[in-house]
Amino acid sequence: MKHYLTITFAVLLALSLQANAYERVKTPATEIVLEADAGKPLRIHYYGPHLADADIESLVASGSLNCDAYPAYGMGKDNGCKALSVVHSDGSLATELRVAESYRESESNAEILKVKLVDTKYPFYVTVCYRAYKDVDMIETWTEFENREKKPVTLTRFDSGLLPVRRGDVHLSYFTGDWAAETYLHEMPLQGGVFCISNYDGVRNSHTSHSEVMLSLDGKAQENSGRVIGAALCYSGNYEIRVETPAGKNHRVFAGIAPDNSFYILEPKELFVTPVLAFTYSDEGLGGASRSFHRWARKYRLAHGDRERKILLNSWEGVYFDINEQGMDQMMGDIASMGGELFVMDDGWFGEKYPRLTDNCALGDWKVDRNKLPGGVSALVRMADRHGISFGIWIEPEMTNSVSELYEKHPDWIIKAPGRDPVMGRGGTQLVLDMSNPEVQDFVFKVVDDIMQENPDIDYIKWDANMNVRNHGSQYLPADRQSHLFIEFHRGFAKTCDRIRAKYPDLTIQACASGGGRANYGVLPWFDEFWVSDNTDALQRVYMQWGTSYFYPAIAMGSHISAAPNHQTGRVIPIKYRIDVAMSGRLGMEIQPKNMTAEEIALCRNAIAQYKQIRPVVQFGDIYRLISPYEGKNLASMMYCSEDKSQAVFYWWKLETFCSELLPRVRMAGLDPERMYTVHELNRIDRNPLPFEGKAFSGRYLMENGLEIPYSHKADGYNSDWSSRVLHLVAQ
Ligand code: GLA
Repeated sequence: MKHYLTITFAVLLALSLQANAYERVKTPATEIVLEADAGKPLRIHYYGPHLADADIESLVASGSLNCDAYPAYGMGKDNGCKALSVVHSDGSLATELRVAESYRESESNAEILKVKLVDTKYPFYVTVCYRAYKDVDMIETWTEFENREKKPVTLTRFDSGLLPVRRGDVHLSYFTGDWAAETYLHEMPLQGGVFCISNYDGVRNSHTSHSEVMLSLDGKAQENSGRVIGAALCYSGNYEIRVETPAGKNHRVFAGIAPDNSFYILEPKELFVTPVLAFTYSDEGLGGASRSFHRWARKYRLAHGDRERKILLNSWEGVYFDINEQGMDQMMGDIASMGGELFVMDDGWFGEKYPRLTDNCALGDWKVDRNKLPGGVSALVRMADRHGISFGIWIEPEMTNSVSELYEKHPDWIIKAPGRDPVMGRGGTQLVLDMSNPEVQDFVFKVVDDIMQENPDIDYIKWDANMNVRNHGSQYLPADRQSHLFIEFHRGFAKTCDRIRAKYPDLTIQACASGGGRANYGVLPWFDEFWVSDNTDALQRVYMQWGTSYFYPAIAMGSHISAAPNHQTGRVIPIKYRIDVAMSGRLGMEIQPKNMTAEEIALCRNAIAQYKQIRPVVQFGDIYRLISPYEGKNLASMMYCSEDKSQAVFYWWKLETFCSELLPRVRMAGLDPERMYTVHELNRIDRNPLPFEGKAFSGRYLMENGLEIPYSHKADGYNSDWSSRVLHLVAQ
C-alpha cells in the first residue's frame, strides 16, 4: 500500500513550505505544465508546444492559464462549474482538495503522471492522471477516486478531467445528429455561459451528439492552419462535455460520465476510475488535430489499427430479412467475382421457435433458422470458403424481444423500472438486457463464444445495438443502487468485450448501433470499425463522413456502395459517384448485386481492384481535408497521403450542378513539395483521359495551384448532375 494513504492535511501544510514543483507532461511536440505543490491545489499553467526550461518560471510569473486542474464543489470563491461533487459520509457537500504527492509511471510508449490529491478534512483521495505518448501528440487524462472514509460517500459529479483554454476568438466545432443523419458538423464562436453536449441514451452514445470537440484558438476554424485543441471523451455510455466561459480569462472544458440519474455510492476502500479524456494540440489547424487522433487511434485505441480491412458485401440493404441459403450463395458468388474478400450475413438468420422474419422477435435466440438455412451457419462458412472469401455474421447480443425464448426463460434479465411494464422498442417488442447482471454478461459472452466455437473460421462479427434505455431500472441491482445502472451496464459491456477479445483476439468486430450509435473511442479498443450510419446515400455520406473524419480514421469507417434510388433518401445517384464516396472510407457494398446492371458490376469490379492498390494510403495515411461540403462551395474535396509522402489519393465530389457554375480550383496538401507526382485517375468513366492523366507535377505545384478538374463527365448516357473524381498520385 502506498504511503500517501497516511498523508494527512497537517503533513501537507508542512510540505507546502517547499518551493514550487512544476510537473511537465510531454509528447513529442507538446506539453502540459502543472503546478503540483504539496498542500496546495493542483493547477494547470500551460498547454501547447514545448517550452524552454527557462520559460516556465517567466510564464507563471507573467500570466499563465493558472487554472485549478480539478475543481471540487463546496469551498472557495470559484462558483463556476465543478469537476467533482461529493456527499461525504457525514452528509457534508463540501470538498477541498490539496496535492498530497505526485509520481510517475512508465509504459513502453508513454509516461504517466499521477497527482494524488486529498481532502483537507476527510480521508477522501482523488488522483488526477495524465498519460503522455512518446510517439503521438496525445495526452489522456482521467481521475481515480478512493474513499477512505468509514462509510460510503456519494459521487454526484465525477468528471474525467478539465482542460482550460485561454479566451480569445475561440471557435468550437462539435457534432449533432440523429438516426440516418449522424455527425453533422457545427461551428460557433465561444461566448459567455455554459455550452453542454451530452448523451443520455444509456446504451449507445453517438447518434444525437458526439463526445468530441475541436477548439480553434485563432478565430474561425481552418483546416490546415491555426492552433487547434481537439478533445475526445473515450466512453461508451452517457456523457457530458461542458464548455464553460465564465468571467475571467479562461474557457474551461469539462468532460465525463453524465451524472444525471447516475450518482454513485462509493464504498469505503472502493476505487472508482473515470473514463479517459484524450486531447491533442496542433498548430496545423483542424487537420493537424485529426491526424494526431487518427495516428493515436491506429496505434493505441482501435482494434487492429495496423491491419488492412477486407472489402465486404453486407446483406442488409440487399435482402433485409429475406435470408436463405441460395440467396446467400448468390451474394457470396457475386462479391467474390467482383474481387471482394468478405461476405457478411446481416439480420434475419436466426430464431427457432420464433423465426426472425421481421424485426419483432427472436433477439436472444441465436439459433439458426433451419427453414431458411438448412445447413446452418457452417454450410455458409464452407460456401464462403468455396467462393474464396471470408464469412461474417450479424448479432445484437445485448438485446432481446418480448417474443423470444430468451425472454420467456429470463424475464428478469431485461432493463425495466420496478413494478412497471417494460417499455418496448423496435418492432414493438424489443428490450435491452441488463448488462450490469453477471449472468447477462456470461450470456452475451456465450453468444459470441458459441458462434465461434461452432465455426472457428468466422472472420467478422457485426455487433448491433438498436435500442436505448427507455425505462430506468435494473432487476439485478439492489434498490439503493439503481442509480448505478448506466455505469454498471457499461462496466458489464467492457468486461464482456475484454473476455471476448482475450479469447478471440483476431476476430474483426464492427460496432453498429442503429447505424452510427457507437462511433466512439469508448468502444473502439475492442472493435475494428463502426458503421457510420444506416444512411448510405452518397451525398449525405459526404457530409457525415466529413464530420466523422475529424476524430476517426478512414480505416474505422464502414462506407458502402448501395443501390439507386437510395433506400433512405430515395435519391438517384450514378454508380460512379457512389463508388467514389465509398472509396474514401473502409470500402464495402450494401446492395443486391443481382439487381445491378452489367455496367455497374464492371465499375464496381474495377473499383475494388483499384481500392486494393490505394488501400494502405486510405487506411493508414494522413488525412488532409481541402474543401468542406459545409462551406457552400458546391464542392467537397479531401485527400490521404502516405506517411512517407510517396503516394496520395485525392477525392473531389461536386455537390450540386448549375449551368455556368464556377467551382474553386482545389489546392492539395500534405505532399512533399520537392517530389514529382504522377497523376492517374481511378474509376474513370470518361471517353477521354483527363488532360493531366499520366503527367507529373511537383508536390509544390499541386499544393500551390492544384489541378483544374473538369466539372462534368463526358461519357455515354452519363447524367452529369453528379460529378466526382478520384486521383492516385505516385511519387517518381
Ligand atoms: C440496424 C443496423 C443495420 C442493420 C439492421 C438489422 O438498423 O444499423 O445496418 O444491421 O439493424 O436489423
